[in-house]
Parts: sequence; C-alpha cells; structure tokens
Amino acid sequence: MTNVGTIGTSGITKTFLQACIASRAFKITQVYSRTKAKAQQYIDELFIPDAQAADNLETMLSSANVDVVYVASPNSLHFQHVKAALEHGKSVIVEKPAFVTPKEYQAIDAILQQNPDLHVLEGARHLYDANYLAAKAQVRSYDQITGATFAYMKYSSRYDAFKAGENPNIFSPKFAGGALYDLGVYLVYAAVDWFGVPKQASYHATKAENGIDLHGLARLHYDDFDAALIFGKDQQSFLPSEVYAHTQTLWLDNIGMPTKVRAYDGPAVFQDLSKHTAENPLVDEVNAFSLMFTNRDDAQFKHYWQLTGQVNQVLDQLRASADIQFESGQN
Ligand SMILES: NC(=O)c1ccc[n+]([C@@H]2O[C@H](COP(=O)([O-])OP(=O)(O)OC[C@H]3O[C@@H](n4cnc5c(N)ncnc54)[C@H](OP(=O)(O)O)[C@@H]3O)[C@@H](O)[C@H]2O)c1
Repeated sequence: MTNVGTIGTSGITKTFLQACIASRAFKITQVYSRTKAKAQQYIDELFIPDAQAADNLETMLSSANVDVVYVASPNSLHFQHVKAALEHGKSVIVEKPAFVTPKEYQAIDAILQQNPDLHVLEGARHLYDANYLAAKAQVRSYDQITGATFAYMKYSSRYDAFKAGENPNIFSPKFAGGALYDLGVYLVYAAVDWFGVPKQASYHATKAENGIDLHGLARLHYDDFDAALIFGKDQQSFLPSEVYAHTQTLWLDNIGMPTKVRAYDGPAVFQDLSKHTAENPLVDEVNAFSLMFTNRDDAQFKHYWQLTGQVNQVLDQLRASADIQFESGQN
C-alpha cells in the first residue's frame, strides 16, 4: 500500500484523511502541522494510531515511511511544499489550484523531467466524480458544441470574518486567494477537460478593497462557441451548469460537486444520467489516485499533469485580464 504524509490541518485535510480511511486506498503514516498537538488531535480523532504527528517538515519529508505527500496548505505555499517534497524523493498530491503562475508549474515540470519516477497530481476532485464522468461522456457524444454556461458561487464561511476586518488566507492576495483561484478553478478545469484550451480567455471581476476578486464572469472563447463561467465567494447561487449542442443540453445541478446529471433532447424530455456517489467528496479522487500509484500508470500521470499545466495557463490569463495582483513572487 502507498504510504502518505499530509501537510495542513484544515477541514480539507480531515476530509482527505477520512477518504483514505474509508476507501483503504492509502496508508496514513505522517500528519504534519506547525503545531504538533493539532496533528496529534487528528490522529486521535480519526483513530489512526499507526500515524505519527510531526511539526518538523524536514523530518516528515525525510521519513522512509512516506511515499506520497498530500499538500493542503494555502495556495501560495503549494509551490514550496511540492518542490520540497519532490526534492526529498516523494510524489505529491496537491490541492487545487496546484500552482499560482506558469513559472511555478514550469519549475516543477523541470524537476519531474529529471525524476521520471516522481509524480504530481492536483486535487481537482470533481474530475474523478462519477456524475462528472457521466456528464463528460455525454458531452463527448455531441457532434457540435454550441455553448456552455458553468456556475459555482458559494457564500464563504470566512466571508463574514473578512468583512469584519480579519484577513483569512482565502481572501488574501498574500496567499493567492479569491474567487477565481478558489472556485473558478473548478469551472476552468471542466472547460479545459471537455473542450480543450480556449483561444481567448477574459475575466471581469468584482473586487474587494485589498484587490482580491469576490465574484465575477469569465468568458472562454473557442473556435465555434463561448463558455460563460460565473463564480463567487461573497454571494450564493443555485444556478445549474449546462453544455449546449443545438437541441441537446447536458445539465448538472452543480459542476463542482454534481449530484444530478440530465441529458435533454428537446425542451421537456430528459434522460437521468445521475450516479450514486460517496458522501465524502474526496473518495472517488482518492481511489483514482491510489490506482494510479499502485499501477504506476504513467499515461494517466502524464495526462493529468498536462491538464494541470493547461488550467494553470488559463487561470493566469484570466487573472491578468482582470488585473488581479498577488503578492510578490507570484506575479
Ligand atoms: N478539494 C476541495 O474540496 C478543497 C476544499 C477546501 C480547500 N481546498 C484547498 O485546500 C488548500 C487549503 O485551503 P484552506 O482553506 O483549508 O487553507 P487554510 O485554512 O488557510 O490553511 C490550510 C492549512 O495550512 C496551514 N497554514 C495556514 N496558514 C499557514 C501559513 N501562513 N504558513 C504555513 N502554513 C499555513 C495550516 O495548517 P497547520 O496550522 O496545521 O500548519 C492550515 O490548516 C487550498 O489550496 C484550497 O484551495 C480544497
């Protein structure tokens, strides 16, 4: 079994650990936190007594019982954590968005070229979801795509704190936060995965005083059609997402976390393509990643790594078009 060490102790790491436990896909051997007690608390709460709590990153990364490092630190720290893990001979699963700039992606790509046994996978969890995959198969069956509208807008649990003058990482230019890099990335992923890299990409953002984008509209322009992306973190939307092919429409209730998928042929007639999915949103991803490591599936690793690079390029273009500045080192 592949041994995993984790970085970060927010909710998503807990969800990842629970997915590993539920699917028995990875063995958790190390939980790293800057505060050892927090790491130990996770180990105790989730009852993984074989795992060790660590507060020294160097020690964790040097540990012989870690094959893969799961990185769930704030966005702007992904690059340094991924680089450090690779330099210690560990493969990586890194939360979305894997990197902030194309320069970061290229630097990691250079390390991977030198170390063909190491791999980096981005936690774009929806890509491995059974409902997303059902939708993707339907989209692939269309002769001609004529347009798409994707929406993902969720009032953030940290927005009230931000409004009250606190500085949560996800709303901070220092940590490469904001709506595009947090939720827009899911929509960009679906567009690039289903339609390829757009010919042009532009973003109109509504920003906070610190320059971070709170919500906005992006347009991805393809040869014969446009995809409209709507995303945000300061308001709540219940809009579904759709792909159009003249009289046919693919409909998902939520493209970031789909539970219902329909293929319409005409106004009222639809085929229900929905699949049952696990309650834990990371189980499908964890199973898919674990298979890739077990089977040493180079073709899959390469495919998803290329997709990571393409999405990274589009995010960068969108950010530039809306003039969103992150703090130095990432511009
Ligand atoms: N796939 C999904 O569904 C999903 C959902 C939520 C978030 N995410 C992604 O997961 C990542 C983490 O997001 P989050 O909102 O959970 O971030 P966060 O709460 O700001 O930080 C995550 C963890 O990183 C460590 N950390 C925080 N600030 C740090 C700093 N200044 N220096 C070093 N370490 C620091 C903390 O762990 P310690 O205190 O233990 O060191 C913290 O628990 C992001 O990339 C986000 O996009 C993915």
